[in-house]
Amino acid sequence: MAIERIKTGVPGLDHVLKGGLRRNSSVLITGAPGTGKTLLALEFVYFGAKDCNENGIFISTEESLDVLEQSASNLGMDIRSMIDKGKIILAQKPLATLKGGIASLKGLLDTIKRNSIKRVALDSLTFFEYLYPRLDGNSMEFRRQVLIFIQQMRGAGVTFMVVSERPVSDFDRLTYDMMDFVFEGIIMLSRIRKGSYFERVLTVAKLRGQDHSLDVYPITIGPDGLKVLYDQTPFSLIEKEEAVFK
Ligand SMILES: Nc1ncnc2c1ncn2[C@@H]1O[C@H](COP(=O)(O)OP(=O)(O)O)[C@@H](O)[C@H]1O
Ligand SMILES: [Mg+2]
Repeated sequence: MAIERIKTGVPGLDHVLKGGLRRNSSVLITGAPGTGKTLLALEFVYFGAKDCNENGIFISTEESLDVLEQSASNLGMDIRSMIDKGKIILAQKPLATLKGGIASLKGLLDTIKRNSIKRVALDSLTFFEYLYPRLDGNSMEFRRQVLIFIQQMRGAGVTFMVVSERPVSDFDRLTYDMMDFVFEGIIMLSRIRKGSYFERVLTVAKLRGQDHSLDVYPITIGPDGLKVLYDQTPFSLIEKEEAVFK
């Protein structure tokens, strides 16, 4: 059976993914702070609702919803109109105070069903520490809870992205996290320094069961949002290679 792919809608990303993401797959977005993880996950939900006729929910444990909506608006995303049309739900911790009461996984699953949601973004994995305060650094239990979450999302038929922070985002010196193995895909974001200037880059580190590019691509964040420059090579890396051959 042919794999059904859905367009993420994130400018440039679907080229890198050779058509898009497998429907119903799970992707971890990881990288250092400020590399664009939140924006990428938000664009996935926004363009899904706007261009792909897929309702979405964005769950933020990192930023207040006002800040999120405002910064999205500065980047050309009119989240408000999507919310008003019932195509996007923004939700925030502390979960107990959420309108609509997404205080548990079951609450989330009900919300998904009630609103015909097809895309879920969770920013970030620390969500599970709020959901299960008693985990208390128990990493095996944490992993188990994330696995249960992934299974439930799969069962609900959604395609989903989860954001997690990692301190080092030098692609050459990456340490794998135990979490990496529970997701079907991993997209890594980073900044590469070139002299006094930083360049933003993206790479798809894995995507189980589907073909994708392994290259490193420059990304830009500007008034028209986050974009992957799929037909370019990062300047910073070109110079690195040239230096090797001198
Ligand atoms: N309007 C804007 N114009 C240019 N860059 C922006 C704008 N808004 C945010 N950014 C950039 O996006 C970055 C934040 O991206 P974000 O997705 O929040 O990162 P992360 O979630 O990885 O910490 C900021 O560090 C900032 O440099
Ligand atoms: Mg963030």
